[in-house]
Amino acid sequence: MIDKLYNTHSLDKDELIALIRENINGIDNRLLEAASSIREVYYDKKVFFRGLIEFSNYCKNDCYYCGIRRSNSNAQRYRLKKGDILDCCASGYELGFRTFVLQSGEDLYYTDNIMVDLIDSIKSKYPDCAITLSMGEKSYSSYKKYFQAGADRYLLRHETATEDHYRRLHPDNMSLSNRKKSLYNLKEIGFQVGAGFMVGSPYQTIENLANDLLFLKELEPHMVGIGPFIPHSDTIFADENAGALDMTVLMIAIVRLLLPKALLPATTALGTIDSLGREKGLKAGANVVMPNLSPISVRKDYSLYDNKICTGDEAAECRYCIEERIKAAGFQPDFSRGDYIGMNIQS
Ligand code: SAM
Ligand code: FES
Repeated sequence: MIDKLYNTHSLDKDELIALIRENINGIDNRLLEAASSIREVYYDKKVFFRGLIEFSNYCKNDCYYCGIRRSNSNAQRYRLKKGDILDCCASGYELGFRTFVLQSGEDLYYTDNIMVDLIDSIKSKYPDCAITLSMGEKSYSSYKKYFQAGADRYLLRHETATEDHYRRLHPDNMSLSNRKKSLYNLKEIGFQVGAGFMVGSPYQTIENLANDLLFLKELEPHMVGIGPFIPHSDTIFADENAGALDMTVLMIAIVRLLLPKALLPATTALGTIDSLGREKGLKAGANVVMPNLSPISVRKDYSLYDNKICTGDEAAECRYCIEERIKAAGFQPDFSRGDYIGMNIQS
């Protein structure tokens, strides 16, 4: 099955389920080696850096797993102003970053006009940088405005591709069909698109994971964010177990083999459940890291899950720390824009 996946970049649902089952109690080294060698065909040993700016933790949604969900009255809410965000970009640029990822809850304060002005200002100042947005589900016309203003990429994890599982993680006013539709809209508009899911979220089954992999294969996103679910103490899932390291690493390896050119982050959540989690993700085929550029004063308030790492570290500390760790793991830190291979870049 590993050979088939390596050669054809596809497996059917039963094969995916069997592959997951076979590797559940320890990942076959040949699978990790296959994933790693495919990554090297397209990206060598490069690991791309993205500077993450968490610009608001207000959210109109109430996803049951998330620490910044609307009904968490213990969350200390904040919004960064345009000047604050530009300051983050300035210090990020100084530190060498050429991609800024602007992430927030679904905060209606940031109207289309505010976002267009912000994107335009960042692009005018830093024309050599890519802007990635991650601010949830919006209308086709909003996405189009952001793209026309100069945003290059959009991250919107599908969370789970199985209807009834989606309903157990979200309230009734959210739907998997709208999430998927948003992803297809983003692709049609021309964004480099990132989907993805949490590993080990409550009620998740192996079949659900196989559905996630099949959906990714069908969508063919440019980026895939995979991280373990980690409980947050102020949510109804406070007492659930976190997702497992091995299962997360296994999912990264399989996605690398299904989508050879994908940009795959070794996520902060993976580094949170295991001190070497990000290195293990890189060895399984991940090729992106996203150090935090948010102001230190608000860092701990962007609390999606408990015990998030790096909430007390200055942007510069994280940047150099991660760079050293990447080198020590045998990879090559890369501070270029790091676009999807073969992508025609606007501007
Ligand atoms: N609001 C935007 C959206 O929904 O796409 C972006 C922000 S949202 C907080 C970013 C991601 O955090 C989600 O896609 C979800 O997968 C992840 N996340 C939320 N709660 C989490 C938890 N408890 N453990 C791990 N990841 C979590
Ligand atoms: Fe942030 Fe090490 S990654 S301090």
